[in-house]
Amino acid sequence: MMDHSAVKKIYNNVKHVEGWLEKEAMLILNILNNVQAKNKINGNCFEIGVHHGKSSIFFSKLLNKNEQLDICDIFENQSANVSKSGHGNKTLFEKNFNTHGNNNLRNVHHCLSSNIAIDSLTKEYRLFHVDGGHHANEALEDLEIAKKMLVDGGLIIVDDPFREDWPGVTEAIVEFLNKNKEFTPIFCGFNKLIITQRTYSNLFLDVLRDEKVRKNNKFNKLFTKEEKLFCEDKMLVFKFKTMNWKRKLKYHLTH
Ligand SMILES: C[S@@+](CC[C@H](N)C(=O)[O-])C[C@H]1O[C@@H](n2cnc3c(N)ncnc32)[C@H](O)[C@@H]1O
Repeated sequence: MMDHSAVKKIYNNVKHVEGWLEKEAMLILNILNNVQAKNKINGNCFEIGVHHGKSSIFFSKLLNKNEQLDICDIFENQSANVSKSGHGNKTLFEKNFNTHGNNNLRNVHHCLSSNIAIDSLTKEYRLFHVDGGHHANEALEDLEIAKKMLVDGGLIIVDDPFREDWPGVTEAIVEFLNKNKEFTPIFCGFNKLIITQRTYSNLFLDVLRDEKVRKNNKFNKLFTKEEKLFCEDKMLVFKFKTMNWKRKLKYHLTH
């Protein structure tokens, strides 16, 4: 289990790796990862859409010794990147992952996520990052894979959930949540939406609502925490408080 400062170290080590994982998203994922560890929710991690490996490196650090990371990307086959989300590159991915990741990369599915041989996958993932194709049909298909392969108490992490650049992702999430009522959103912030099985949601929500946990992770002063309704369920939304540039700069220099 990692604390706030270990996460900050990883963030600084991979700062130069091109990608889209914010430090605050890393902190939230680490908090939820620790909840899984405390509750003996074990399993591997799957990531669809790796680009140059920034988020893969972070997920590899969240895994315990006997847990592994599987990934999927089209890499250089960018003519298949119909939504134009990111730009995978296997050479850069391998270079970055081999330098900064843990030694736990297992299967590399070098293909469209729609071409993953689903029969070769099993229900073994406790973390499933959906960050591949950003059109509605692509993201929805990936969410459906995540649903089938997630262990009890697992987390589906969706990137770009509410961005004007990627309306297809929002469309997919809404359709997924309306169709799969056994799943519920628990957290939104820092460009991630996190979904889990309804029966496990309070396990995670109770920790995120805990003032002490948020204080230990430096989320108390500069972020607002609100509960918002989305697809008929309550989720926690964290966002930066409105602050002047001096305070923002101070935060970025000191955290
Ligand atoms: C937004 S980037 C991933 C960013 C990465 N997760 C990070 O945080 O640094 C999206 C990636 O998905 C890949 N991709 C796009 N469409 C895909 C698809 N349908 N199946 C598999 N990979 C896809 C792209 O090549 C690109 O590397």
